[in-house]
Amino acid sequence: MPRVTLHGPFETKTVEVAEGTTLLEAAEAASAQVGHVCGGVCACSTCHVWVKQGLESLSEQADDEMDRLDQAFDVKASSRLACQAHVGKADVEVQVTQESLSAYMDENPHVRKALEAEGKWPPKRGV
Ligand code: FES
Repeated sequence: MPRVTLHGPFETKTVEVAEGTTLLEAAEAASAQVGHVCGGVCACSTCHVWVKQGLESLSEQADDEMDRLDQAFDVKASSRLACQAHVGKADVEVQVTQESLSAYMDENPHVRKALEAEGKWPPKRGV
């Protein structure tokens, strides 16, 4: 089974998933800090990730995803919406964007408050 590794400023999580699993489903299985305000229906861009490895093995981008990514922050050639990208046979490695991490912290205030108490949130620039 392919492995999905998710890198964030506070943690790196890896999980094995079945082919066809979305990156967002993988993130949830790994308890990774990936936001998903719309619940995975391509109606926001808070699940935006940058794919560091395995981009070519993911499912093709549909027009809806491209349109939604047009409204995202800091879009790169490696950008995908985690809820729309399905894993193929190859391992995948992604970097969680600041946009997605901020959404995750809004959705999980107990995590944000704990990081604030440790002086780790908001993260320093370049983290
Ligand atoms: S969770 Fe909203 S577009 Fe992916």
